[in-house]
Amino acid sequence: MNYNKKTVRDVDVAGKKVLLRCDFNVPQDKETGAITSDKRIVAALPTIRYLLDHGAAVIACSHLGKPKNGPEAKFSLAPVAKRLGELLGQDVIFAADVVGEDARAKAAALKPGQILLLENTRFEKGETKNDPALAKAMADMAELYVSDAFGAVHRAHASTAGVAAYLPAVSGFLIEKELSVMGGALADPKRPLVAILGGSKVSSKIGVINNLLEIADTIIIGGGMSYTFSAAQGGKVGDSLLEADWKDYSLEMIEKAKAKGVELLLPVDTVIADRFAADADTQVVAAGQIPDGWQGLDIGPKTVELYCKAVAGAGTVIWNGPMGVFEFPAFAKGTEAVAEAISKTNAITIIGGGDSAAAVEQLGYADKMTHISTGGGASLEFLEGKELPGVACLLDK
Ligand code: 3PG
Repeated sequence: MNYNKKTVRDVDVAGKKVLLRCDFNVPQDKETGAITSDKRIVAALPTIRYLLDHGAAVIACSHLGKPKNGPEAKFSLAPVAKRLGELLGQDVIFAADVVGEDARAKAAALKPGQILLLENTRFEKGETKNDPALAKAMADMAELYVSDAFGAVHRAHASTAGVAAYLPAVSGFLIEKELSVMGGALADPKRPLVAILGGSKVSSKIGVINNLLEIADTIIIGGGMSYTFSAAQGGKVGDSLLEADWKDYSLEMIEKAKAKGVELLLPVDTVIADRFAADADTQVVAAGQIPDGWQGLDIGPKTVELYCKAVAGAGTVIWNGPMGVFEFPAFAKGTEAVAEAISKTNAITIIGGGDSAAAVEQLGYADKMTHISTGGGASLEFLEGKELPGVACLLDK
């Protein structure tokens, strides 16, 4: 896939109405609706400021959550409009709909240097179906399409991809950075390239393991998915997470790694618990020696040492997925130690979005990393080497 896409710098934006797709799918407090992290809004500011400073009138849009049946107050982007206004230090005009009367009137009246935010694109049922009529109606309000919604580029929706059929389409600075840092690490990594993969399920990381086996020098496996690898090799995993249907696949990956000369590191010990609870009784046992009635919830201290050593010698580190149940302090040590080791290397360090990004931020290592992706599912599909519809639709350089 070609990641060399035109950006806002390659087109004239002065005096133009620009439809800007952002990923304002921010986390919110379930009770109050308050935005609990404005990271994604902050990440969109450089492109918004560039467009406004260069004389564009910006019509911003985004999805928020997964509304199923049209407008729903709890999924309104109104709180985002307010926060965006505070961050920009200027008024953000808000439209009560996406392509309805209000949006069209406000878009038509918009002047260079002004910004309008449309209501949640998923309030339109055609959005997730990539309905051409909706895409055209959005495009009709503007003269140029800019996408900076990296977190949503794996979605072929009307506002993330469809609209590019009707307008010249370029990327903003966030997508440009995500593509150049992650793309660079995959295409021409500083070696050795060490990929750390965690999380609960092998089944959700198959594509990533497969793709990285072609590229990485070392692949480190942690988290719940390591128990499927252990069971596949005849280990006892007690009541640990196990995807029995993926044991053969795990063995295949072990064989493929051998054949390709990729070092595949699996846990040598594990922290086990007598139940899935923060205050469970715990022990450390060798990998593959978990008694019935017990479950593995973190990598053990010898594994931590092994993994941190591999990280220390890396030229590039890519990390996706925690090493254990880090929500419980008793099972967070593996994830914490790996995060700390990554923060201390001189390697290029790339943190996939989602849980690993949250862990790095919680632990205060965010500013020590080369790049923390703003995309969860999107960064995973990127690492899988899949074509991303929201990138493919942009103009090549
Ligand atoms: C995300 O939060 O990963 C993106 O905004 C995509 O959201 P979605 O999974 O609802 O499409």
